[in-house]
Amino acid sequence: MSKITDKSLAEKGRKSYQWARDNMPALVTTINKTAEEFSFKGTKIAVCLHVTKETSVLVMGLKELGADVYLSGANPLSTQDDIAAYLDSEGVNVFAWRGQNDKEYQECIDATLDVEPEIIMDDGSDAHITLHQNQKYEKNNVIGGTEETTTGVVRLEALEKSGKLKYPIIAVNNAYTKHLFDNRYGTGQSTFDGILRSTALLMAGKKVTVCGYGWVGRGIAARAKGLGAIVSVSEIDPIRAIEAVMDGFDVKPINELAKESDIFVTATGQKHVIDKNSIRNLKDGAILANAGHFDLEIDVAFLQDVAKNVKTIRDNLEEYELDNGTKIVLVAKGRIANLVAAEGHPPEVMSMSFSNQLLGAVKIKLDHKKLKGLIDMPKEIDYKVAKHALEGMKINIDTQTQEQKDYGESYVI
Ligand code: NAD
Ligand code: ADE
Repeated sequence: MSKITDKSLAEKGRKSYQWARDNMPALVTTINKTAEEFSFKGTKIAVCLHVTKETSVLVMGLKELGADVYLSGANPLSTQDDIAAYLDSEGVNVFAWRGQNDKEYQECIDATLDVEPEIIMDDGSDAHITLHQNQKYEKNNVIGGTEETTTGVVRLEALEKSGKLKYPIIAVNNAYTKHLFDNRYGTGQSTFDGILRSTALLMAGKKVTVCGYGWVGRGIAARAKGLGAIVSVSEIDPIRAIEAVMDGFDVKPINELAKESDIFVTATGQKHVIDKNSIRNLKDGAILANAGHFDLEIDVAFLQDVAKNVKTIRDNLEEYELDNGTKIVLVAKGRIANLVAAEGHPPEVMSMSFSNQLLGAVKIKLDHKKLKGLIDMPKEIDYKVAKHALEGMKINIDTQTQEQKDYGESYVI
């Protein structure tokens, strides 16, 4: 029942799946331990995640646990077609290919909801929002869901505030074992993977501006510094701005940085952080990339409007020649650069993120009648995932002695 581009890529996809699985010990442990006491047998799960080698390990895990999985991508340009073909060859229903237009992207999400799933596992909340907004899904079987990323959680918070949230959703992003590692180290490394694959330029000595100093921005700024770049930060939150200053970065408004920097990376979840004014101030040859979930952080529509010429330079790299002759270079069409121009986060971090996704879905299946609204991952699940990850890294840590426990509990002023 799949809709994919090229079934002949299945063997290539299988090898990538195996490589990812070999490097995701925490997720493999989570799957194996869950299988000892739980089954998803007969449960239809709609999964709206970037279709990557790491996602294939999660999806095969859900399948091993008995679920019927219906998979769509979480971005029109992020699907790895070999992985889609491999999962299809394993009997997963996949509706995804790289290079979809917006209509095709939406139709694929709809296809996974049309089967009347019980659980929705999402990244960015396009599937959750579709279910809430489209009359067609007024009557549904959904008992609950999960959400992977900051922007998805922000959208669901708004839905909950309006009183319209129809089922419990676990905010996977809010688990420490998710955002501390995935948002920070995962995006930090893979965004530069995308910028380097597309531009193939030297980072040492370049002036790099990071817009937003949240979990993602911190990771990108740290990696830019590590590559030898001269790093600046733009922020709107005074506390995060101070943090960036004390981490050693130059903090300034974007309009000033626009005139100075060579490379800009947005990581805010906000709209038009690099707006028309900033674009007008950019130096000739400035490079723009986005690591946020949606492609609205850079005003690409304005770039398109004022460009007298657009040229594809290399894969995932376009040059816009503006009406005044300035040339601006855009990575991955302003879409999520680490997943479009590279392969997304490395398996080791996705191992923890997807352990949370899997255990979140198990919790929904077991406890949905007791759960309400948008909820954080229970602390004990977070710690369970951290233990599995440490085991996978073969790192032992200390345990508290009885004497220390007693001291902690008996302390009085
Ligand atoms: P966050 O809330 O921790 O950080 C966002 C930061 O941006 C905040 O500090 C906020 O003050 C700042 N900000 C908001 N508007 C701004 C503006 N106009 N100028 C400058 N700074 C501004 O969120 P996060 O976890 O860092 O996530 C950021 C984005 O990245 C979200 O869209 C999230 O979904 C996405 N994300 C992407 C990946 C990936 O694989 N590329 C992974 C995780 C998260
Ligand atoms: N988000 C960021 N990196 C990812 C990956 N490798 N797979 C799925 N989702 C991701």
